[in-house]
Amino acid sequence: MMHLDQTQIRRFEEDGILFFPGLLDPGEVAELRAELPEILAMDRPEILREKHSSNVRCAFAPHTYSEGYRRLMQHPDIVGPVAQLLGGSVYLHQFSINPKAAFVGEAWGWHQDYPTWRVENRIARPDLVVVGVYLDEVTEFNGPLFFILGSHRRGVLDIETDATSTSYTLLGVSDEDVAELCRNGRLYSPLGPAGSVWMFHCNIVHGSNANMSPSRRALCTISYNRTDNLPSAHPRPEWEAHSEFTPVEARIEHSLGESGARSA
Ligand code: SIN
Ligand code: MN
Repeated sequence: MMHLDQTQIRRFEEDGILFFPGLLDPGEVAELRAELPEILAMDRPEILREKHSSNVRCAFAPHTYSEGYRRLMQHPDIVGPVAQLLGGSVYLHQFSINPKAAFVGEAWGWHQDYPTWRVENRIARPDLVVVGVYLDEVTEFNGPLFFILGSHRRGVLDIETDATSTSYTLLGVSDEDVAELCRNGRLYSPLGPAGSVWMFHCNIVHGSNANMSPSRRALCTISYNRTDNLPSAHPRPEWEAHSEFTPVEARIEHSLGESGARSA
């Protein structure tokens, strides 16, 4: 299980994000990628479409219909560091695959993740970490995320409702706040091969452009919340905000040198 050192923990507190290029085993990433076409062809309520096409924007809760993604959310190199960063046991709050299709994958306006969960689910504290797992190589061209380093330290910003850029209403951050935050904090866009992983604080301001390149930019976002910070409202479907609060246990790895020789 990966263990963060004090320098990494301090950097997370300072910047609001840690990035680990190529963290996951290539065999495991290949298995996750192999499951994607089938998932993206499914017609289920958990799978939301883009505003301007029928391409998948978010495939929520893939751990409930894919064994590979269920195992991913228990990955020891993810669950261990997340529990360290949050200082306690965690449960899975939300899990989505965002495939951002070549040419037609649409943008995400500037936003923080926590305000939605505070407003809709009445989660009292911003004790959530969001983990990103790259399923494709992410370059400057295929719609990578942009983060404003240190912006999480400002806490919850005024909400600007953005009903235009997405197929649903996003609780966004104003251009004025983004401009001001960028005067004090650097913009950062983590680029890397499939299998790269970031972990960010749920109040960091982030967004991403449309994908006008010929390369898909699929990634997962997996949000973990502390088990002593439970939601008290459940207006959204189960697959958008889970209410199974059992602590996520890191799966046990057997070092037999075979990717199939692991147990859950
Ligand atoms: C993206 O997939 O580009 C954005 C996802 C997010 O903000 O959660
Ligand atoms: Mn987000």
